[in-house]
Amino acid sequence: KTIRRGDYAPPAFLIDTVDLDFALDPMATIVRSRLAFRRNPAAAADAPLRLDGEGLTLLEARLDGEALPESRRQLGADGSLTITDAPDAGILETSVRIAPERNTALSGLYTSGGNFYTQCEAEGFRRITFFPDRPDVMSRYSVTITADRARVPVLLSNGNPDGSGDAGEGRHWARWVDPHPKPSYLFALVAGDLVNVPDSFTTRSGRKVALNIWVRRGDETRCGHAMDSLIRSMKWDEEVFGLEYDLDVFNIAAVSDFNMGAMENKGLNVFNTKYVLASPETATDGDWQGIETVIAHEYFHNWTGNRVTCRDWFQLSLKEGLTVFRDQEFTADQGSRAVKRIRDVRGLRAAQFPEDAGPMAHPVRPDSYIEIDNFYTPTVYQKGAEVVRLLHTRIGPVAFRRGMDLYISRNDNQAVTIEDFVGAMQDASGTDLTPFMRWYDQAGTPELTVEDSYDPATRRYTLTLRQRTPPTPGQVEKQPLPIPVAMGLLDDTGAALPTRLAGENAAQPGTRVLLLDGAVQDFVFEDVPAPPVPSLLRGFSAPVRLKGVPQERLRFLAVHDSDPFVRWDSGQQYAAAFMLEQVARVQRGEAPGFAPALADAVANTLASADADPAFAAEALVLPGEGFLADQMEVADPEAIHQVRRHLRRQIGTHCGAALLATYQALTETGPYRIDGRSIGRRSLRNACLAYLAAAGEDGVALAAAQYRAATNMTDQLAALALLADAETPAREAGLAEFHAKWRGDDLVLDKWFSIQAMSSRPGTIAAVRALYAHPDFDLKNPNRARALIGAFASGNPLHFHDSSGEGYRFLADAVIALDPINGQTAARLIGPLGLWRRQWVERGALMRRELQRVLDTPNLSKGSFEKASKALQ
Ligand code: ARG
Ligand code: ZN
Repeated sequence: KTIRRGDYAPPAFLIDTVDLDFALDPMATIVRSRLAFRRNPAAAADAPLRLDGEGLTLLEARLDGEALPESRRQLGADGSLTITDAPDAGILETSVRIAPERNTALSGLYTSGGNFYTQCEAEGFRRITFFPDRPDVMSRYSVTITADRARVPVLLSNGNPDGSGDAGEGRHWARWVDPHPKPSYLFALVAGDLVNVPDSFTTRSGRKVALNIWVRRGDETRCGHAMDSLIRSMKWDEEVFGLEYDLDVFNIAAVSDFNMGAMENKGLNVFNTKYVLASPETATDGDWQGIETVIAHEYFHNWTGNRVTCRDWFQLSLKEGLTVFRDQEFTADQGSRAVKRIRDVRGLRAAQFPEDAGPMAHPVRPDSYIEIDNFYTPTVYQKGAEVVRLLHTRIGPVAFRRGMDLYISRNDNQAVTIEDFVGAMQDASGTDLTPFMRWYDQAGTPELTVEDSYDPATRRYTLTLRQRTPPTPGQVEKQPLPIPVAMGLLDDTGAALPTRLAGENAAQPGTRVLLLDGAVQDFVFEDVPAPPVPSLLRGFSAPVRLKGVPQERLRFLAVHDSDPFVRWDSGQQYAAAFMLEQVARVQRGEAPGFAPALADAVANTLASADADPAFAAEALVLPGEGFLADQMEVADPEAIHQVRRHLRRQIGTHCGAALLATYQALTETGPYRIDGRSIGRRSLRNACLAYLAAAGEDGVALAAAQYRAATNMTDQLAALALLADAETPAREAGLAEFHAKWRGDDLVLDKWFSIQAMSSRPGTIAAVRALYAHPDFDLKNPNRARALIGAFASGNPLHFHDSSGEGYRFLADAVIALDPINGQTAARLIGPLGLWRRQWVERGALMRRELQRVLDTPNLSKGSFEKASKALQ
């Protein structure tokens, strides 16, 4: 059943307070609920009292203290409970039984390693108790938990603790009260045999907050970075947005079976262990950075998401886009803003651009869905954050901060819409932002093209910007969008020219922002002494594809522009264009050529790398196979792989001496450190190693030596990934040794699965099938499933698109096996099968056949149904 945004109606009843009582037991948990309900004055006066429910065994229902006769309560086929002739206000008590141990979907209340955890966003609360499970019903919760004291010593829920004690017969209880009204999706319960890492934080206004990270015994030594990130996040939100924490405790619990990254439940965040646990020996630099980002993200939700929440799930980006923007800004302030921006744009182009060009393309605010879990997407999150950034660029940081204050003061404790957010920004800035709403409602990535001309007689320079958004499914006609283009002009030495548009009195130095708000627009600059080189889309000021910049200009900008993003991007675009030409040659049966300019660029980067090693590492990495495929009408994964491999070998050979020198100079001696510069030095060193390994045996031997000598996971895994891709006896030895060493560590073992799944060696599909049957593979664990199946389908285009169709068949087999266990994670894996239009006809037919096989599976989850059916259209 399709849910449509236009069909929104306010809830018939509101729930002011919720009292929950859990008697925990793995196979038979009893949940008693007491709801104080009243008719919503804003809704139709005759609507019945309907409560969502899913898979609940109803034991009892009482209305105002009286047992409800069966004739006044209907259980719907969808699991819901409807009360007929409900009074306008009253108390509804229900008692239900659920079996957390059998809950493999990991939505609602489930067990993991014998402990209890919940995940309620988006619609999991209805799997715990009967309730109007929609975000615009906000209530005050109190929760009592009872459980066996020995097996379940720790009992946690939202809000502040409010007593605990003995319950007799070896059981104990604890009570939690959350003073802030919240929607049901923010409910959480965690209970089990857990240990805590404590700390504390005093807010600006003097509230002392007890902080705790709850983990399984043995993991407490790996929580330091998560705690440190949390404290820095709390401080940053006070300093930058004036937002303080609002409870006496903040708990984080880590769980190894989790469908997503983490969840911002009020006062009790639940995290995938992947985003909490880190030690130098077990976590890569990427993992450390992921932890900082996700900890910050969930903490920032306390205001953007929890205090101000979404009216309905179509508004998801209201909290997600804004909170991603906030976590990006936080990370940018912790270290290098430029490198952070480059990484975010790389991620956007790798995941969101293809989504926006494929069958699942949807606006940042979707118009309809079948299963909302399918819309926790790069478009809602990352493109949503880009749209917030557009507004920030348009009105400037001071007005943006005023707009945030206004947004929060107007909407505190309410469930609101994207209009409320943009409206606050508009009122705070005095700028008409209505045209920007189109960014929320129109899918597809706009293409921005440039033409220019210079007239020496008048010293006028005319820049013509043109935009066009290709059609997306269900949205054929596209309107022009307001696109802020941050830009500057350079003279032929690379010096910045002041810019003055016709009609302006004073020239502006440095970067300025042009607003393109039509399909095509001329910007005329006065008093330009000589033909300039335009530097456009500085800092990636809008999520668009900038096209048609000539190769010589890209080369010039890559060296001379003052904006680090444009420098990096121009290098990438230059390399991408060259690589795509070589792909065309390979397709014609010719050998790929070599560009000395690329080797020169690598040499230059290495020569100046010490100034900013992290930036140099980003500049050194060639555009990825996915990025290149995304530039092609019809992708050719084999030719792309061949060209990229060829170029890497050529660069590794041409620049061998410089690469080796840099590699050796960056050898670390002291202890492992995770500051930006140390991380940058390791990425640069490993980027050098990758080129050296691509060049031949000596480099592979160097990788084998690094693997053996490494004292941290970053260097060890970087080396092993190179070995996993090479033909060397060190390969099998390394993989076996790594497995033996890390067998007992789930998060590290995930990496072992992933690097093999992403290998480009022949025979990888068979190897992946064998890993699927490996005793350590566990389809029920989402991290493990993603580490093998997801890494193969999304991270190995060469083998996934094998012309035999075997890669597609493997993915479909895995999805069909996983769907009845965990439909949400299964549906998320389907994506890569949907990109069949971008493949040759023969491959496309094989992909469609596998999608059809998924679709023909009996009892398919509605999430997988939606993904597979949309992918086929
Ligand atoms: N709100 C969470 C976050 O962004 C994501 C939870 C999504 N859960 C889900 N079942 N779709 O941090
Ligand atoms: Zn979020």
